[in-house]
Amino acid sequence: MLNEHLHQILQAKCIGIIGKDLSLKIRMKEICSLLHKEVGHYDWIGFYLKNGEKDELILGPFVGKETEHKLIPYGSGVCGRAAVEERTILIEDVSKEENYLACNLSTKSELVVPIIKNGVFIAQLDVDSNELSAFTIRDKILIQAICRRFAEEMD
Ligand code: SME
Repeated sequence: MLNEHLHQILQAKCIGIIGKDLSLKIRMKEICSLLHKEVGHYDWIGFYLKNGEKDELILGPFVGKETEHKLIPYGSGVCGRAAVEERTILIEDVSKEENYLACNLSTKSELVVPIIKNGVFIAQLDVDSNELSAFTIRDKILIQAICRRFAEEMD
């Protein structure tokens, strides 16, 4: 579980990374690497971006096992739903989801937070855990803070 101390440290570090003078992709990769390393229950973490003008997500920087889901149509799976509904989706037990795309058979719970710029969905940060009900309100607050900060940096 993410405790308050680690949450505060990681949030500050991530905000620092996002403010760096590096390409967006490198900053996204750094965030994924840091969180994957520091938070035991973040087994896969990655960004999906709106694919040009299409109603489709394209996989961006990530850390974790390779996934076959490099393109996800809007509405499909948890990620596709978060894109359409433009809201955070927290899944306690992925085996109970009908509309779910399995990236990895060991995944048990998932947290997806959209990145919204001027009211428009542009990307999302997806976190998978091999533990059931792995995410608490603290994970949600941390990932949402990162996404809000990224929104300011993206076009
Ligand atoms: N599980 C997601 C697909 C992305 S992978 O988890 C990396 C979904 O249902 O949309």
